[in-house]
Amino acid sequence: MELDPTRLPRHVAVIMDGNGRWAERRGLSRLHGHRVGKQSVRAIVETTRRLGIPYLTLYAFSTENWGRPPREVEGLMSLLRRYLASELGKMMKNEIRLLAVGNLRRLPPAVRDALRSTIEATRHNTKMTVILAVSYSGREDIACALRRIARKVQRGELNPNAITPDTVTEHLSTAGIPDPDLLIRTSGEMRLSNFYLWQIAYSELYVTETLWPDFREREYLEALDYYQRRQRRYGRTASQVERLRAAN
Ligand code: FPP
Repeated sequence: MELDPTRLPRHVAVIMDGNGRWAERRGLSRLHGHRVGKQSVRAIVETTRRLGIPYLTLYAFSTENWGRPPREVEGLMSLLRRYLASELGKMMKNEIRLLAVGNLRRLPPAVRDALRSTIEATRHNTKMTVILAVSYSGREDIACALRRIARKVQRGELNPNAITPDTVTEHLSTAGIPDPDLLIRTSGEMRLSNFYLWQIAYSELYVTETLWPDFREREYLEALDYYQRRQRRYGRTASQVERLRAAN
């Protein structure tokens, strides 16, 4: 597959879905599915780095996922902690910076500490940023931004009439990170599941039937190829876009 290296997305965000179904279809435990899903995480991080895409967000755990059976939650948390420990060397070698968005206070202390220390250790890496969305809720992210803005208004630091969409963007947990150009969701569900709600206003959406544990480099390259065949119009007409492209 020939990808145009000049037209790659700057930020890919992924809703990694289908680990449970992958395992159940094989008569295995759901946790087994998550473990194989971790291999897909590795593959996608590696390919993203190799292609030179600077930002990758992985939706690893939503606020709603806290409602899963305790054993599955514990298993996922332990998987996350071990993933961070095992990948640190590779992140340093490949100059990958790790960030996390979500309510990290709810995480078990061992996971929170592993996350914090990996973020700290990788903070000067500049080749690529991996953002883990853990205990994340898109609505809570927006509500939190609104609370920060309201406090600034209350302190007299911000005029309510000066609040624009950019003001909201700058107060989200993703401040400073470009909006995703491409949102991938595996396992066929046409849902956003309270992921980045504000951030994906103009993202191209790619939904594949492939379950996350089967989503590896080949499937990822197909998603990127789909992205390159889309024409991003941002509300303009196709001919306006063509004219703008020709002028640049
Ligand atoms: C969705 O599958 C997946 C999750 C809730 C967790 C994603 C976690 C991983 C891929 C493993 C490790 C992650 C990292 C970052 C190391 P599901 O259980 O909802 O599947 P189902 O819809 O088929 O039940």
